Amino acid sequence: MSNNLQSVRGMNDMLPQDGPIWGFFEETVRAWLRAYGYREIRTPILENTPLFKRAIGEVTDIVEKEMYTFIDELNGESLTLRPEGTASCVRAAIQHNLLYDGGKRLWYMGPMFRHERPQKGRYRQFHQVGVEALGFAGPDVDVEHILMAADLWKRLGVSPILEINTLGDAEARRRHRERLIKHFEANADVLDEDAKRRLHSNPLRILDTKNPAMQSLVEAAPKLIDDLDEESLAHFDVVQRRLDALGIAFRINTRLVRGLDYYNRTVFEWVTDKLGAQGTVCAGGRYDGLVEQLGGKAAPACGFAMGVERLLALLEAEGAAPALQAPDAYLVHAGEAATAWAWQVARSLREAGVNVVMHAGGGSFKSQMKKADASGARVALIVGDNEAAEQKLALKPLRDAAEQAVLNVAEATQILLK
Ligand code: HAM
Repeated sequence: MSNNLQSVRGMNDMLPQDGPIWGFFEETVRAWLRAYGYREIRTPILENTPLFKRAIGEVTDIVEKEMYTFIDELNGESLTLRPEGTASCVRAAIQHNLLYDGGKRLWYMGPMFRHERPQKGRYRQFHQVGVEALGFAGPDVDVEHILMAADLWKRLGVSPILEINTLGDAEARRRHRERLIKHFEANADVLDEDAKRRLHSNPLRILDTKNPAMQSLVEAAPKLIDDLDEESLAHFDVVQRRLDALGIAFRINTRLVRGLDYYNRTVFEWVTDKLGAQGTVCAGGRYDGLVEQLGGKAAPACGFAMGVERLLALLEAEGAAPALQAPDAYLVHAGEAATAWAWQVARSLREAGVNVVMHAGGGSFKSQMKKADASGARVALIVGDNEAAEQKLALKPLRDAAEQAVLNVAEATQILLK
């Protein structure tokens, strides 16, 4: 195939063999969200670019170098393929006044787009399931979200590890920022180009540097924990005590700062060492300032999102992946009258809840039986002109040694629904 007819680099097809695991995941997730009273929201995949710049932050990797941004040539507007779901969710809540009668628990599922360097577990189109609770103050929803995630891992049969931290309130972060700038300015000769560029716009991100020459400078940098406000510390304390009471194990990681600017107070990530470099399967935290910052009436908030591809990889790594989905029956038929009767048989069986693949494309009984076997179906249903004349069908078990039997549709239905 010529190169330009392949899928875009870093953007994957979900092929039929991947269907069962995606289906299992999506069904599990929907039941899980219902159990906690969350309601679905769907927002467009495209938004006006300023939304993401304002919500995620101008000086973040996502906004600086990962967004698919383009000009709509028909009207000159700058549009962006959503790199995440929180900004859109908050935009929709403000636009439709969703918080008029109190807090809302929302969820979404769908593709996100980031122009990152593709590798295992990191794609340019990937999928997230996201959960946002808007309008709830206090540590309750932080704990609810962590508990929910822990419950989902149990339902899926995976076991990532929880890391938590607190970023404090806006004032504490400002204080910390000032001290960081002072610290880095005093050591300006050690800073690389990237760090110099970020020194005044986003000094916190300098702490994430991979540059070995800057490691000791980063080690010696002021710690956020020393700048935190009393209220945020008390909030964090409650979160920890409740997690303890719920028996949810966690590790405090004071280096956990998150790559999006909207967070404050509690932040958390679920990580695994089973997936190589891309080990964060789920992440989130509080973002109490975002609703107001995007033009809404001030409302506290908390949320998280998981990377579906990474979780499915973990599901496979931990051996919890579901088996292939096969039909209940494969319907084999040959002859004019037989085919007409076979259509009716298939319709009645499906109406009764049996999954039936009807053979298409003709061929001998023998070649059709091979297809029946390859389909993975439990039984082959065989209809020839004789069966058609008697309004019957032959049921041949394919996965055990039971005898073939000639039955009417009601009898076959009963067997297949067992
Ligand atoms: P995030 O940490 O940018 O947070 O992404 C959440 C999760 O999406 C990551 O932990 C990872 O599993 C997955 N992910 C991110 N980028 C990629 C990629 N390129 N390929 C595959 N998976 C990826 C957010 O997006 C926030 N909106 C989460 C949130 C919701 N915070 C509050 N509410």
